[in-house]
Amino acid sequence: MYSRIIGTGSYLPEKVLTNHDLEKMVDTSDEWIRTRTGISQRHIAADGQLASDLAVNASHRALENANLKADEIDLIIVATTTPDMVFPSTACILQNKLGIKQCPAFDVQAVCSGFVYALATADAFIRTGKYRNALVVGSEIYSNIVDWKDRSTCVLFGDGAGAVILTQSDQPGILSSHLHADGNFSDVLAVPGSICDGKVQGSPFVNMEGNTVFKFAVKVLEEVAIEAIEENNLQTTDIDWLIPHQANIRIIRSTAKKLGIPMEKVVTTVDKHGNTSAASIPLALDIAARDGRVQSDQYVLLEGVGGGFTWGAALLRW
Ligand code: UT7
Repeated sequence: MYSRIIGTGSYLPEKVLTNHDLEKMVDTSDEWIRTRTGISQRHIAADGQLASDLAVNASHRALENANLKADEIDLIIVATTTPDMVFPSTACILQNKLGIKQCPAFDVQAVCSGFVYALATADAFIRTGKYRNALVVGSEIYSNIVDWKDRSTCVLFGDGAGAVILTQSDQPGILSSHLHADGNFSDVLAVPGSICDGKVQGSPFVNMEGNTVFKFAVKVLEEVAIEAIEENNLQTTDIDWLIPHQANIRIIRSTAKKLGIPMEKVVTTVDKHGNTSAASIPLALDIAARDGRVQSDQYVLLEGVGGGFTWGAALLRW
């Protein structure tokens, strides 16, 4: 018994914030942002728009693409670092907004690796035979947790959601998944604040040692890609599409170069979306599936790295 993706969907909020808009907000320049990160714009959620609102739009599109009705979903997993509230989970709120009754629904918190963690979890559940159709979503509103006065972080992130429908199959769709974490690095990339005694204790904003994250990301994205490729007795030349987490075009280019995968085989959306954390991989996957780049029978390698640190990969046969 295997699982296979049969539908994808994504949603970006209407408002676009360009680098030129940011020049009016902090001491930065379009030139710095583009050359250091590859980002030219990002989408920003409307006031009051929540991660579950973005998720519900992406989910409807994925359901339509899979030709399934919402009530055929029997498992919901949402990867998010920016949940609607402390509890209930964004997955439970999404379940209600989709009008689905009773099925298990929970969030996965693995920051920018969240979608790979959620996909691996759903795959494992489906392989037990107990669940047939899983909705797996990455949805983020980072505009709520960046300090808009801090130029070193606010230019990097954006809001959005991506979703996939994973279904039982006798043919392998997800060939393998590979998850890792090292909590030793928890201070390097964090939103350290917590709610206590009616107040936020500590910073409620993204804190990041950019250089440390950059070096770590390039190292582990190469390692975990090789781990996935070797486990399936494949070569890097067999990979038709590399769909990495979209944080920085320089990280993506370095990883592709180390793996010997040409940039023509790498899906990039960071220029238009910025870093949408757990949403970035399913957003990029949806775009490449819908524009016809990702084709039946191809090998697609998804990989991400983020706060924790966490990192992981999933190798798919499309
Ligand atoms: O989602 C997973 C987690 N995130 C990532 O993967 C991000 C990983 N890190 C990065 O992408 C990069 O480290 C950054 C894009 C965050 C920073 O790029 P960098 O090339 O590592 O720059 P830097 O932090 O070394 O800063 C270089 C200079 C500094 O000035 P000085 O000290 O050289 O005078 C910064 O103050 O750039 C300055 N700077 C800026 N200048 C204009 C930092 N942010 C900005 C800005 N505009 N927005």
